[in-house]
Amino acid sequence: MALTNQLFPHLPLPMLKKTLLKAVHAAAEVIRGFDDQDFLVSNKEGINNLVTEVDHVSEKVIIQTIKDAFPTHDIISEEVGELLQDSEYKWIIDPIDGTVNFAHRIPICCISIGIEKSGEMIMGAVFNPFMNELYVAERGEGATLNDKKISVSKKEKVINACLVTGFPYTYLDEPNGPLQTFERFIRKGVPVRRLGSAAIDLCWVAAGRFDGFYEHKLQAWDSAAGFIIVEEAGGKVTNLQGEPYSPYQPGIIASNGVIHEELVQVVNHGWTS
Ligand code: IPD
Ligand code: CA
Ligand code: CA
Repeated sequence: MALTNQLFPHLPLPMLKKTLLKAVHAAAEVIRGFDDQDFLVSNKEGINNLVTEVDHVSEKVIIQTIKDAFPTHDIISEEVGELLQDSEYKWIIDPIDGTVNFAHRIPICCISIGIEKSGEMIMGAVFNPFMNELYVAERGEGATLNDKKISVSKKEKVINACLVTGFPYTYLDEPNGPLQTFERFIRKGVPVRRLGSAAIDLCWVAAGRFDGFYEHKLQAWDSAAGFIIVEEAGGKVTNLQGEPYSPYQPGIIASNGVIHEELVQVVNHGWTS
């Protein structure tokens, strides 16, 4: 699909952003094309760690779109891995985040693409083609949902918060693992949802639908775009210990910023009262 600037009709888009949007729209088109069609589903390591043929086609279209515009940029993408050329730009791609949902025709999944320049995340887009929700953020320019500015919630206490989390495909047996942390919130009556797409979890924090998100074991492509979208919506993202975030390590806590310290405390040590 040609990028006809439907979302930003008045702006001449810089090449990077234009390509980013073109890539997510092209992938969305592919994904929607399988709406009423069967597709092959197989599993990676772990019986329910699924990959579909649609993940591969979506990835192919995204990579081709990037290569057409920026043949020398680095790419890291979930299914093909690293395509590195020593560029200062790196595109971090999840061709379908929420593959288990997608394979079950649950419309909570998305395309997620983040762009790093010299190791700093500078731009990201997350598109749920079934809900028609496009989240975009650019460093210093704020975050949008379908071209409207979004911002995080104002909730002040974790006890009043609505949280979201995710679980790894295989059981993580470690102190303060996902189940222990989950139990800690549930025993206090704090709602913790599980949508099945880390990128959408992050965007829904950015949009103020959730007050916080935590997860123990993610990959760079799960969080690269969502991370900058939360930050640009006024939120905070750290690792599980509350230290500066890097998508290249597994744990993440994202929040509206106000409840962040308390959320880090509860995730790591439990409630103080
Ligand atoms: C998964 C989703 C899920 C998270 C898993 C991820 P995938 O990505 O983001 O929410 O809990 O850890 O692997 O496999 O659907 O791309
Ligand atoms: Ca993913
Ligand atoms: Ca994926």
